[in-house]
Amino acid sequence: MSITRNFFIALSKNQPLNSAAKKWGLKLGAGKMVAGTDIESMMQTVEQLNADGISATIDSLGEFVHTKEEATKAKEAILQTLQAIQSHDVHGHMSVKLTQIGLDVDPKFCLKNIQEIVAAAANYNTFVNLDMEDYDHLQQTLDILDVLLKDYENVGTVIQAYLYRSEKDLENLQHVRLRLVKGAYKESVEVSYQEKKEIDDNYLKLIKIHLQSPGYTSIATHDHHIIEQVKAFVQEKKISRDCFEFQMLYGFRSEMQKDLAKEGFSFTTYVPFGKDWYAYYMRRLAERPQNIILALQSMISK
Ligand code: FDA
Repeated sequence: MSITRNFFIALSKNQPLNSAAKKWGLKLGAGKMVAGTDIESMMQTVEQLNADGISATIDSLGEFVHTKEEATKAKEAILQTLQAIQSHDVHGHMSVKLTQIGLDVDPKFCLKNIQEIVAAAANYNTFVNLDMEDYDHLQQTLDILDVLLKDYENVGTVIQAYLYRSEKDLENLQHVRLRLVKGAYKESVEVSYQEKKEIDDNYLKLIKIHLQSPGYTSIATHDHHIIEQVKAFVQEKKISRDCFEFQMLYGFRSEMQKDLAKEGFSFTTYVPFGKDWYAYYMRRLAERPQNIILALQSMISK
């Protein structure tokens, strides 16, 4: 783990800075990776993506939720976003972090909130993805997913390839729509692979397993080496393009996103928006030193 990565992950957890940033508007180059602070500006981005043949998974950003009031406010914002997807008639669905709607406050209260969200989305024929957070929240997220799956089909989650346990989790979720990622948090050697090669190898292994399972597969990576290997694998195994999609984050490799859509692959861009952009943005800077250079360039050019 590099010093830079540790530094930006530590910044992402700084609550006073997070609170201050809510009043700043999009700053520090965040506008390149966050699609505005309100629903209307985010919708313009989604409409543009749709025009390029790309769908969206929308994240109404929110971090550090410690009270039921904050969680309820976040839930209302998510419900409004779902309504906007419907009223703007755009191609998109929601990504939700359970801590944002009260997982750390009271898991039962969080379950009620996510049930309300998934029920509203089902009415609109829209999918809800439970984003996966750090290891401490993983089992709770899977337990809540289990409960939701008893009543709803329009919900799925994320499997992180850096965790040793992920292959087992995948086995239990064969029928579920899953986003597969490498993993974004800092996890210990007791639970996770630390070397890039090990993570990449496990990532490809998990992708191949889920592509051959009944559940839909979202391959969420900016790594062109992985994407090329997936393309070769689906061709070799004659896996229909209806069974999977590629996903990338808004602001990353935009040309490649459009090219994959033009090649006829289903493509979804993760579109975060809202005043609470700071921690999300710091985690992105932690992931890739080049992002810091891009951020500095955009600050200088202002
Ligand atoms: P990685 O960062 O490993 O890069 C591999 C190689 O790809 C690089 O060496 C470079 O060659 C190339 N590359 C990567 N980015 C590039 C760029 N911008 N420009 C040019 N080349 C580039 N994590 C999590 O824990 N929970 C979650 O719910 C999610 N959700 C999620 C949704 C979506 C849509 C995405 C894309 C990612 C997530 N993640 C996530 C984050 C994920 O776990 C991971 O941290 C990042 O995607 C970074 O890993 P990559 O696989 O993209 O490539």
